[in-house]
Amino acid sequence: LAFELSEEVDRYVAGQIATLIREKKGAGQNAVLGLATGSTPIGVYRELIRLHEEEGLDFTNVLTFNLDEYWPMEPDSIHSYNRFMWENLFHHINIPKENVHIPDGTVPLAKVEAWCDDYERKIQEAGGLDIQLLGIGRTGHIGFNEPGSSRNSTTRLVALDPKTRKDAAGEFYGEENVPMQAVTMGVNTIMNARQIIMLALGEHKSKITRIAVEDEVTDQVPSTFLQKHPNSMFVIDSAAASQL
Ligand code: GLP
Repeated sequence: LAFELSEEVDRYVAGQIATLIREKKGAGQNAVLGLATGSTPIGVYRELIRLHEEEGLDFTNVLTFNLDEYWPMEPDSIHSYNRFMWENLFHHINIPKENVHIPDGTVPLAKVEAWCDDYERKIQEAGGLDIQLLGIGRTGHIGFNEPGSSRNSTTRLVALDPKTRKDAAGEFYGEENVPMQAVTMGVNTIMNARQIIMLALGEHKSKITRIAVEDEVTDQVPSTFLQKHPNSMFVIDSAAASQL
């Protein structure tokens, strides 16, 4: 689905999420959202905040699970995805604090594996992800599932691709400051979502968007796995669609 403007993408995707939240509430159930960070979803979060403030969209029946976090990373660091989510969304809506789940960048190495297994269990206990929101990295990664991530991968500690670290260098004031690793949901965790919405905005995403949508499915470009999902959708602006 391609829109002329990024604002239309934001409104459409926020509308989809709002509809899910309202339907689930009507049925006395929770809406379970998989959320992403990066610059791309910020407009969707802004629109969700507007729906909360102006239309009273209620988040008390919403559970969230974020895709990833740098490791190691303190949650109050300016680089932290924990902090990003609170600043760009959670502080501005009425979601109960205990409903928010974000990978923890402070878990010691010896405990990371158990922590990741626990994250998978929590997603399952919540009933699985209703909608997983995704952005796409230049390597074609989803979450931090870099090239080589297997279809069966679950939440785990991974090494970041040099391209990804280069792209993050600006925010970290130098590539050498970008963490070498991250905790990310796996490809399988993402593929288990009942619906997947991939966002891509801007000309700089046009090449990888084309590859993800049109090229053969390969673990060298993990976003190509989405082609195999029964209910996945790319929602993009005209600039990102320019090479399709
Ligand atoms: C990071 C995140 C991804 C995100 C990507 C693109 O690597 N882990 O989830 O999709 O950046 O970020 P942006 O939306 O800023 O282009």
